[in-house]
Amino acid sequence: MSRLRSVVAGFGSALPRARVTNDDLVARGVETSDEWIRQRTGIAGRYMADADETTVSLATSAARAALDRAGMGPDDVDLIVLGTTTPDDTFPASATQVQAALGIHHGFAFDVQAVCSGFVYALAMADNCLRLGQARAALVIGAETFTRLLDWEDRTTCVLFGDGAGAVVLRAEEGTGTNADRGILTTHLHSDGRHRDALYVDGGPSTTGTVGHVRMKGQEVFRHAVNRLAEVVDEALTATGIRPDEIDWLVPHQANRRIIDAMGRKLGLPPEKVVVTVDRHANTSAASIPLALAEAAADGRIQPGQLVLIEAMGGGFTWGSSLIRW
Ligand code: UT7
Repeated sequence: MSRLRSVVAGFGSALPRARVTNDDLVARGVETSDEWIRQRTGIAGRYMADADETTVSLATSAARAALDRAGMGPDDVDLIVLGTTTPDDTFPASATQVQAALGIHHGFAFDVQAVCSGFVYALAMADNCLRLGQARAALVIGAETFTRLLDWEDRTTCVLFGDGAGAVVLRAEEGTGTNADRGILTTHLHSDGRHRDALYVDGGPSTTGTVGHVRMKGQEVFRHAVNRLAEVVDEALTATGIRPDEIDWLVPHQANRRIIDAMGRKLGLPPEKVVVTVDRHANTSAASIPLALAEAAADGRIQPGQLVLIEAMGGGFTWGSSLIRW
């Protein structure tokens, strides 16, 4: 029996113009230090969107680059799934605005809101649509202007985040149904809304009428992240029968270097098999994994046919993993 697989046909990314170092934040009056931020998080800098750079403009740039890489045009894509917590407008969906900007006038487009797990969720939704035959090719995008949600008086959160976008093109192709197929081999999603107060934004259209600011109980999130991510990675390995030593690349959500290192150690992966961008991008929420995928694929680390494990955890809580044969 043949099986449809969602195969990665292209990738792309976009970062805002302005690079902001930890020392720049100190110069702007944030009560922190380069040493504290590097030690606790591994972050050295982040990119911050100017007023003319938005989630939709960054997402559109990343999507264009991904289509170019795939050798595909607007007519070839009939689905856009965009993971974001920072849409340009409360509605319409940023995905439909990207659709219009790319000149795509058919198919369907929608946003997925799962905060830092947004790309894993978006990938899973697109994979389901492709394998069910609801679309033939999809743009899956993670894009954020997360710095718009920061309270610059709150040093426990404002030093952690950055802006950016990454995208992949998925194309439905016939596979054999084995782990040797190229494409998404498995996806696993979870959420538990009881943890709302550990990581949230204190505003919204239906409550305050504002976008609000990020609030986080960092240590609580850290503890849950390490445990939940280990579980959801195990799920992906168990579902496919793939052993950790078969994984070519771990491309984790980039929130904290300590969490990334802990996951690499749990899987017994040497550091050179773990893709790290948190040092330069900080935490870009739903954009962090596709930014890291695009960087490692563009510089030749991730090669077609290799096995890539992605995992993320974010507000909600939400968390998820996927194994992709690139
Ligand atoms: O993407 C969604 C998922 N998010 C995450 O995964 C984030 C998970 N959490 C974390 O990454 C870490 O918990 C943080 C990086 C947020 C914080 O690191 P920590 O080691 O848990 O630090 P802490 O919150 O325990 O704070 C330690 C100290 C405190 O001072 P006292 O009370 O010990 O005197 C803080 O007030 O560091 C202080 N502190 C700072 N000092 C300088 C907190 N923020 C800063 C800062 N600069 N920016």
